[in-house]
Amino acid sequence: MKISRIFLSIVIFASGLIPLGCAQQPVPFTSQSGSISKDKPEKSYEHLIVGFAQLGAESDWRVANTISIKETAEQLGVELRFLDAQQKQENQIEAVRKLIIQKVDIIGISPIVETGWDEVFQEAKDAGIPIILVDRRAAVPEDLYVSYLGSDFLEEGRKSARIMAELVNGKANIVELVGTIDSAPANDRYTGFREVLKDYPEMQIIDSQSGDFTRARGKEVMAVFLQKHGNKITAVYAHNDDMAVGAIEAIEEYGLTPGVDIKIVSVDATRGAFKAMIAGKLNATVECNPLLGPQFFELALNVVNGKPFPKWVPSIEGIFFPEDASEILPTRKY
Ligand code: AHR
Repeated sequence: MKISRIFLSIVIFASGLIPLGCAQQPVPFTSQSGSISKDKPEKSYEHLIVGFAQLGAESDWRVANTISIKETAEQLGVELRFLDAQQKQENQIEAVRKLIIQKVDIIGISPIVETGWDEVFQEAKDAGIPIILVDRRAAVPEDLYVSYLGSDFLEEGRKSARIMAELVNGKANIVELVGTIDSAPANDRYTGFREVLKDYPEMQIIDSQSGDFTRARGKEVMAVFLQKHGNKITAVYAHNDDMAVGAIEAIEEYGLTPGVDIKIVSVDATRGAFKAMIAGKLNATVECNPLLGPQFFELALNVVNGKPFPKWVPSIEGIFFPEDASEILPTRKY
């Protein structure tokens, strides 16, 4: 256990320090998937016009992600056209169409759900505007986006299950707070968790509902779980920290002690999660890094200039536990 935690700390400190090109085998950019032409002069950040179709502001994670994109654009001198879809796919599709009309050089998008993007991504491709998927994948043919920058959500689900198994000694009645239905992180965290649970026959998921990645819904759904199952619940798996914090409130209002009577594991590693761990109310958080601004603009510039870039730029992420939380909290940026 000790060794694995030391290892995880190393991973945590390495996070964000891996240069873009080291992540995977570079896939050469071709004129088929983007807009570059050989006679165009190479662009610098100051000449780059980037559109970004953000999905909304549902969680602390998302707020940190937006700040990272906006601050990095300002630091680099990139002209950023940022549109917020306020949690609606139709708004996000409309945002991509607006950015196409504005003839931006490249579009970044965090798709709110996985499906329903083929048509609008094809429109961007036809207009010669490359799409970068940021944070969340979309279920589209590979030629409709140039690269994906973000986490391995399946692995986050697996890590959560392994940690949970350790915390409960392989025996638990788990309730699951799922993220936004049909979103890539909710789909993969759901699947990855179950993959590992196959090895633990005495760990059962007794209920699973969406809390839409928000604190308020996490609290409401947890209150319903408690009404239905009461003391039978011994563990909570929350697809993000915001829902876990909501669940903690519901558990306290029900009269049980979160982190003790009910073990809780969640995903993101926000400052809110660290505070909950310091208070002994959360047992572990699996990191999902939202600070993607620097990698995003580096990738965008490479794409626009026809430089090699990877098809997937994975974030390197760790796991955090209560015993390290006080020391690490001051260093957390989100
Ligand atoms: O796509 C990443 C997920 O979206 C984060 O885990 C969650 O907090 C956010 O809303």
